[in-house]
Amino acid sequence: MEIIHSPDEMAAWAKAQAAAGGGIALVPTMGCFHEAHLSLMRLARRQAGKVVVSLFVNPLQFGPSEDFEAYPRNFAEDCRMAAGEGVDAVFAPDPAEMYPEDFQTVVSVKDITRHLCGASRPGHFDGVATVLVKLFHLTGADCAVFGEKDYQQLAVIRRLTADLNMDIEIIGHPTVRETDGLAMSSRNLYLDEGDRESALSLYRSIAMARKLTAAGVREATVLERKVRAYIESFPGTEIDYVSFVDADSLVPVAVIDERTLLALAVRIGGKVRLIDNGLVLRDG
Ligand code: PAF
Repeated sequence: MEIIHSPDEMAAWAKAQAAAGGGIALVPTMGCFHEAHLSLMRLARRQAGKVVVSLFVNPLQFGPSEDFEAYPRNFAEDCRMAAGEGVDAVFAPDPAEMYPEDFQTVVSVKDITRHLCGASRPGHFDGVATVLVKLFHLTGADCAVFGEKDYQQLAVIRRLTADLNMDIEIIGHPTVRETDGLAMSSRNLYLDEGDRESALSLYRSIAMARKLTAAGVREATVLERKVRAYIESFPGTEIDYVSFVDADSLVPVAVIDERTLLALAVRIGGKVRLIDNGLVLRDG
């Protein structure tokens, strides 16, 4: 497995692979791998002859009061795990090379970023969109794989690549969960034992919303009130949003239908912000 740090070297490697044929699948990550990342790598492996994993904690997508410095990093172990999955190249650029002093371009996706995480993390999706345009170009990827836990991120990327006619296929992978239902996330590392129990409120409240809708409750305001009360019954939870939205536009809905997604962001123990989501009328 190649470990590439320089953007120029990455582009040269991608060009050589493209000439050889077989296609390139990209798994963009911020590292600190767990089983969910490995599942993305396995899915990527089935899509193309070469798999590139980018490993870059992207400063552009963190707000001033967010956890950029504290974000968990585990480079040597990440490389070992990626090699174990048969990844062909890890691209781990330096922030100063990705964003030199004279860097001044921002890629911004409009309506779909107005709700949910876009509303509570101003600038976050500009940072994500900007880094991904660079990563797609540098790696010459024919397809890229993303987890559905970051549902809004996936929607933003699909919009971005369609709007800019980018010749890349965007593939979603279902959320990978612990056996008790907690969605896997690098930020779960910050949870102590008590927080871990409270973190289960996200997955369990999706299950609760599904039960209530199956029993005939369809008004989003009623469901939202019940979900909020349930999450708040767990110690140390602080709700960022509980939102019933259309799964395509991400606009809040009044009445639940087949396309309604419950999207959640909850801060646990004052420090860890977790997200989760699920279609309300079916599993997924
Ligand atoms: O989901 C992530 O880990 C990041 O937002 C991504 C897609 C790698 C962009 O930095």
